[in-house]
Amino acid sequence: MTLRVGVMTGGGDAPGLNAAICGLGRRLIASGAELIGFEEGWRGLIEDKSRPLHDANFQHLLVYGGTLLGSSGDNPYRDPSVMVPKVLATIARHRLDALVAIGGEGTLGAADRLFTEHAVPVVGVPKTIDNDLDATDFTFGFFSAVEVATRAMDDLRSTAESHSRVIVVECMGRHAGWITAYAGVAAGAEAVLVPERPAHIEELCENLQRLRRSGARSAIVAVAEGTRVFEGKACLSSREKDEFGEYKTGGIAATIARRIQGRIGWDARPLVLGHLQRAGKPIAFDRIFALRLGARAARLVLERRFGLMAAMRAGEIVDVPLHAAVAARKTLTDQFLDRYESFFLPVGGP
Ligand code: F6P
Repeated sequence: MTLRVGVMTGGGDAPGLNAAICGLGRRLIASGAELIGFEEGWRGLIEDKSRPLHDANFQHLLVYGGTLLGSSGDNPYRDPSVMVPKVLATIARHRLDALVAIGGEGTLGAADRLFTEHAVPVVGVPKTIDNDLDATDFTFGFFSAVEVATRAMDDLRSTAESHSRVIVVECMGRHAGWITAYAGVAAGAEAVLVPERPAHIEELCENLQRLRRSGARSAIVAVAEGTRVFEGKACLSSREKDEFGEYKTGGIAATIARRIQGRIGWDARPLVLGHLQRAGKPIAFDRIFALRLGARAARLVLERRFGLMAAMRAGEIVDVPLHAAVAARKTLTDQFLDRYESFFLPVGGP
């Protein structure tokens, strides 16, 4: 009997999603399986929105950013008594032998629960530009986002130098500062502020003042959107929560720039890189990385090994239990922060 496999992409998009679909689809179809693409993440399974995928769909697909299938943050566990039965009914209606979930913490967390609580035959593929999923060294999309952020900081240097300004560049990363840290270090930023280390305006301004007095005409401050920034004991970062119970982010760069200008009189401007970090074509590394993860997921399906996720460990593509990936969040390690300590402000906090 022909193997019937569903695939969906959930959560925020990341460059490389199409390459992962491509790696999965090509391998499965070559093995005689049928592939059904569910649209807009879990919503496609909740509302039964799907379409068959064929070889022609994968032609030069890997080049493009975004996702062929669309994505959403919908999650059946937001209202499990209503939505989980709908997902199970869709899986039964399509007679799926396997479901491949490509996503981050939210998407894979739901996949793991469907596997453990309802024996849904799931296989996971990790994605997030934030690189904060555990059990894999990296997630695809991360290095593409780092490239965007690094180039932005490189390019900002000339205008900052011309006008003798500080430019505060806000990168994505609610809980983990991976993008900010890699891009900030690569671009030679004067300060890198990340959620793993609370930052203090007084200390930042002192450091910038010292730099300026030594003759510097510009400074780049890289800040992750989720960084907790303090002035005295007051936290300047938003403590407001959104509908999902997450702290609202966006705008910390403007707050920091205003404080720099007010405290030390150095002209300072904010820039929020925002969704540019998720936009555009994946860099070659992410295309190949995602292709390999997709192909590994296909192999797991063909071997009927479920509850697992394709991952990168020490440069090799391996498989790990899904729950290992969602059990904890992977944040910047002290080892990393210490290695580049001159970029990061010393540990502080009230
Ligand atoms: O999950 C990645 C991420 O890029 C976060 O870093 C960011 O806070 C969030 O997505 C923004 O998502 P949205 O598309 O909902 O604005």
